[in-house]
Amino acid sequence: MSETTLTLDTIISLCKRRGFVYPTSTIYGGLANSYDYGPLGTELLRSIKNLWWREFITKRTDMVGLDSQIMLHPQTWVASGHVGAFNDPLVEDKVTHKRYRADHLIEAWAEKKGQEVETANMSLADMANFIVDQKIKSPDGNELTEPKAFNLLFETAIGAVSGEKAKVYLRGETAQGIFSDFKHVVDSTRMKLPFGVGQVGKSFRNEVTTGQFVFRTFEFEQAEIEYFFDPETTSWEQLMEDWKTAMWSFVTKTLGIKEENLRWRKHSDKERSHYSKDTYDLEYHFPFGWKELWGIAYRTDYDLKQHQNLSGENLEYFDPQTNRHFIPHVIEPAVGVNRLFLMVLFDAYREDTERGRVVLELNSRLAPYEAAVFPLLKNKPELVEKADQLFKDLLNDFKVTWDDRGNIGKRYLYQDEAGTPFCITVDFQTLEDNTVTVRDRDTAEQVRVAISELPSMLRSKQ
Ligand code: GAP
Repeated sequence: MSETTLTLDTIISLCKRRGFVYPTSTIYGGLANSYDYGPLGTELLRSIKNLWWREFITKRTDMVGLDSQIMLHPQTWVASGHVGAFNDPLVEDKVTHKRYRADHLIEAWAEKKGQEVETANMSLADMANFIVDQKIKSPDGNELTEPKAFNLLFETAIGAVSGEKAKVYLRGETAQGIFSDFKHVVDSTRMKLPFGVGQVGKSFRNEVTTGQFVFRTFEFEQAEIEYFFDPETTSWEQLMEDWKTAMWSFVTKTLGIKEENLRWRKHSDKERSHYSKDTYDLEYHFPFGWKELWGIAYRTDYDLKQHQNLSGENLEYFDPQTNRHFIPHVIEPAVGVNRLFLMVLFDAYREDTERGRVVLELNSRLAPYEAAVFPLLKNKPELVEKADQLFKDLLNDFKVTWDDRGNIGKRYLYQDEAGTPFCITVDFQTLEDNTVTVRDRDTAEQVRVAISELPSMLRSKQ
């Protein structure tokens, strides 16, 4: 299938049909921008997180992991600048009162007119003027309110008695837990600069958004790294380049994404977050445009300094070799796991019109199942028993699934859509010579393989 015809709706439909992602709470009519990951989606999401963890934490001697709270002390978000500056430009339809992001409406208008407009460089006043000058209306054709800054942090409260509840925020990024624990990590480990701390976990943003599936949601998962260094001995430009190479390699080699669907984009001065001196986005070419997948920012010593100032705690690092006390600087590669997930599905999706099937060409590190085991017929106990034994043996070392429903053709079609690289059928010949039929997902070709050869065959698609 050509990329231009693959739409978000096609992926949403596959996700629901095969149990990758469901809209949440549908028995109560659903909840905006909120999704649950089904059995296959949970496996895929978990594999992505595990691969990230292995590549960036386990396999590196200069990295350690952390699992901090979702609800941190509320002053954290004052220090980080999120209470004051973590805003989206919000407009409201004056009739329906539906809310939109002003920059998104301007971009949609520009795309329709075939014009280039850089909303990233626009202030609220610029957007207000643009909307008035170009007579931009809401998607329902109504007048819009003036854009205003809308804070994205979710507020909640802790404490049992309502009058005594203390306001806290659900974290808007996992990063702040790393900054506020920086001193603990230095004091409790043998890490010496330069070193990084990574964490994977939920973040929450009260996004003003419509209809981008898991690309932009209120609740999502981030995998973030704060890589601390001494700016006097380490070049931030070089570190940034090294991390960009590592990010590109993870996406193309580990996740197997096609290079032509990826690009780097440097943030303009106006667009950059309040804490950053330089930012790049690794973007993926989704059917709805080139969009941010993974950001990398040079956050300088902004966060640790802010926390030191507001908390009064000394967050300096002591270098015994140079006898210097200083606040380290930070390079931050920060990715949304759900965006990696969506990208993986788009990149792997193929329609095989010749054979009338949809195939998810996932490598077996990502595929929810590396193989499916079938007895040819489910009413033949000798086949079922043999297949069951093989299934249980493979379960020790591989992610395998069982299927004995319907005919073999239908089982193949189901597994193709689940992304299962191999289907293994136990038939009458298996009982004679311990060989099975193995059908390759990508070529749909079938070969006869000895059971003893299966492990090396399954590993060939990793
Ligand atoms: N600590 C830096 C930070 O949070 P960000 O660019 O705002 O930077 C990092 O977020 C990544 O988190 C983004 O590149 C994106 O992949 C993901 N992300 C951000 N907001 C998201 C949302 N509402 N839904 C899903 N993923 C999101």
